[in-house]
Amino acid sequence: MTQPDLEQSIRHCYSTWGDRYYADYYESDTAYPPVHTDIIRDLLQQSGASSLLDAGCGPASMLRDLNLPNLQRFGFDLTPEMITEARRVLALQQVPPSHIWEGSVLDAHAFRCPDQPDHPPFDAAICFGVLPHIPASEDRTVLSHLTNAIRPGGWVACEARNQLFALFTLNRYSRDLFRQELIQVDKLSDRIQDPTEKAALSQALDELDQRFRMDLPPVRKGYTDEPGYDEVLSRTHNPFELVAEARAAGLVDVQTLFYHYHCLPPMVEGLLPNAFRRESISLENPRDWRGHFMASAFIVVGKRP
Ligand SMILES: C[S@@+](CC[C@H](N)C(=O)[O-])C[C@H]1O[C@@H](n2cnc3c(N)ncnc32)[C@H](O)[C@@H]1O
Repeated sequence: MTQPDLEQSIRHCYSTWGDRYYADYYESDTAYPPVHTDIIRDLLQQSGASSLLDAGCGPASMLRDLNLPNLQRFGFDLTPEMITEARRVLALQQVPPSHIWEGSVLDAHAFRCPDQPDHPPFDAAICFGVLPHIPASEDRTVLSHLTNAIRPGGWVACEARNQLFALFTLNRYSRDLFRQELIQVDKLSDRIQDPTEKAALSQALDELDQRFRMDLPPVRKGYTDEPGYDEVLSRTHNPFELVAEARAAGLVDVQTLFYHYHCLPPMVEGLLPNAFRRESISLENPRDWRGHFMASAFIVVGKRP
């Protein structure tokens, strides 16, 4: 798919979410609490940042909750309906509409406020929920654009869906991780030439497939005629690989912070929903090594030297 076609499919996917995204994913009683906003608030307060750029800000879901004294907030997004909602919500907090604009993280120019082209580089830049929709070949481009948008000594925080969480979920994501990333089935079957061994390998893989719940998780569909989240490009990332990409993009002191922990594999959540939620929240610790497997999301944080 070409970049314009890909971006059009993503815009279409999010076009119906402008005025419901925050209610569904941040405010709803059933949504997981937005612990990631707390992580970013802590980073902003610890660093004393006075300007923040949110690349792919959606309906200002994070920006509206990062209403800190002396923090100038800016953001852009690919989807016009998200921009409309972000401007509306931030106007209630006296943020000028020009602080929110339309743009793509794949375009270096999008990282500058069109109304303030001479604005100095930002103290911090965040990017949440966007990387899943970026082709693998462009991950470093996005990280480089984020890095170039901040001043030396400033920091970037870029979120991704944790690919290694599939080692805990035992569902169709696990099968993909086993086959494509760990076993690398194509390479292995190329190396095995003996017909008896080839047949045994095929049987072994079929047996492994029995271990995974291939019907889970359910595929997320759109609300009306637009494609759903799982029907557009929505990748997961390996934290070890994304850290390497962040370093290659010029960031230093790179670390991974994990969030949205699961105390048990999600397929059994329905058996004990209250305890599942309570105990999962109690596990939230961005630096726990178990986050590599039990957290569904992570943030790569790094500084510009
Ligand atoms: C899952 S939402 C996250 C919104 C917000 N960052 C948050 O964390 O609540 C993903 C957002 O990324 C935007 N997006 C997707 N691809 C993008 C791109 N190439 N450039 C800028 N925004 C993009 C979508 O329009 C959507 O608003």
